[in-house]
Order: sequence, then structure tokens, then C-alpha cells
Amino acid sequence: MYTIDYYRRSADWLEERLDDVPEIALILGSGLGPLADQIENPIVFDYKDIPNFLVSTVKTHAGKLIYGTLAGKKVICMKGRFHSYEGYTMEQLSIPVRVFKLLGVQKLIVTNAAGAVNLTYKPGDIMIINDQIKLALDSPLRGPNIDELGPRFFDVTKMFTPAYITLAHHCAENSGLTVHDGTYMFMSGPQYETPAEIRACRVLGADAVGMSTVNETLTAAQCGMPLLGLTVITNMAAGILDKPLSDEEVNEVASTISTKFTAYVKKIVEAI
Ligand code: HPA
Repeated sequence: MYTIDYYRRSADWLEERLDDVPEIALILGSGLGPLADQIENPIVFDYKDIPNFLVSTVKTHAGKLIYGTLAGKKVICMKGRFHSYEGYTMEQLSIPVRVFKLLGVQKLIVTNAAGAVNLTYKPGDIMIINDQIKLALDSPLRGPNIDELGPRFFDVTKMFTPAYITLAHHCAENSGLTVHDGTYMFMSGPQYETPAEIRACRVLGADAVGMSTVNETLTAAQCGMPLLGLTVITNMAAGILDKPLSDEEVNEVASTISTKFTAYVKKIVEAI
């Protein structure tokens, strides 16, 4: 079980190497890395060089932490994130957001790729995450509470900041993107879901399903960090269409909309 000093070690190491406090942290999902290439005057860290940080084991996740300016704001951006299916515990998966909090980051934007459970969604659509369902695995906040990082028990009624949801809708105007409000459901992977699991997700109220993000959002909620979540729908979830799911399809759809999506997120960063 980590103590505050564990997270401080990474934060202190980064702080020594940055010229300013980043205002916004961005966590980029599968195939959504190109946004990071737009960061100006970047300082790039390999995850493996940051003390007490984790490393990416997924091919399509670059494993770089990039600090710089995006749309006039100081940002720190994870190009590639960590997942439970890589073998990390939920506690380990709280590291990045806690490190960002200790660095003084004020706002968090998370992006991910997910399968559509909602039959009205289409690949290439965007879902602004309004709420989430995490029934699988532990909470990332399980264990002795670190009071400096937030209370033991905390409210998650509005964990996705309502003003940011409104702002994300405004920014979508004239973006050429189709944008929905929806609920993201976490499944632990790495296998895609079975058709029966997807039917269960639908009954439970999910609009999209994916293997990431909920550890980051819960960690942010505990430490009171305002939060926006954006999902790129890369495929219809299992059993909806008569074809197998693949990560090639997920990455292909994510890269097809990456130009529009990048412009959209930049606009949000500017306005948030
Ligand atoms: N299921 C889980 N994770 C995903 C999917 C999916 O259909 N698409 C992209 N990530």
C-alpha cells in the first residue's frame, strides 16, 4: 500500500524538470495519441525514467509523458495509459492522477476508445461521459486512506463536472463530429466482451464499454479535481454486428477521426 511519499517522489522529480505548473492534465486513449504531437515546446519524459511511475506495455500506447503548451495553456499529457489487464493493481492505476494532483494540476481531461452498447451510436461518434459504471475489480482508493489526497468516503454524484459537459457540447458545434451524452461502463478485459455481457451492460444502463479510465476518474473525484471524459466510439460492441472485434478496427477508426478529434479537444483546452 503506497503512502503519500510514494506519489511525491514522482511529483518532485517532475517538478524539478518543469518550468511551470501544468494547468490541465490530458490522458489519451488507444489511437488518440496524435493530439500529443500538437503540444508546443514539448518536454518529453519516458514513463520508464520517472521514479515510481508505471510503464506502458500496449503497442499502441506510446509510453510518454509530454509537458508543453496546447492552445495557449500549459498541459501535461499522457500519450498512452495504464490498464488493469496489463497486470497493474487498481492502486497502481491511481498513480498518474495522484502525481498530477501533487504537481498542482487543476483540471483533468481523459479520452478513450470504446465500443457502442447504445444501438443509436455509430463508429466515429463521440460520447461525452456523463456517468460511469464500474462493477468489476477494486476501487483504486481501496486501502489506508491518504487524507492529503481526499476523504475516505466521497460523493461521485457529479464526478464528471457538469460545466465541462456543457462546454464540450458548445465546442462540438461546427466540429463535424456527432456528439452524445452517455454512460461509460468498465469491463476488465483484455478479451472483448461476449454478446451476453453486452446485453447485460445495456440492461444496466451503459451506452459504451471499455477497458480503461474509471480508475483515473475515481482518483480525480477523490482529490476534487474537475474532470471531463470523452469517448471515441470505435466499434459496435460484441454481438451487435455479425463480425469479430479487433484492435486493428479500434485503432483504424480512432485514427480516421483523429484530425477532427484533435481539433475538438484543442478547442476544449482553450475554453476550459
Ligand atoms: N470493448 C471494450 N473495450 C473497447 C471496445 C469494446 O468493444 N472498443 C474499444 N475498446
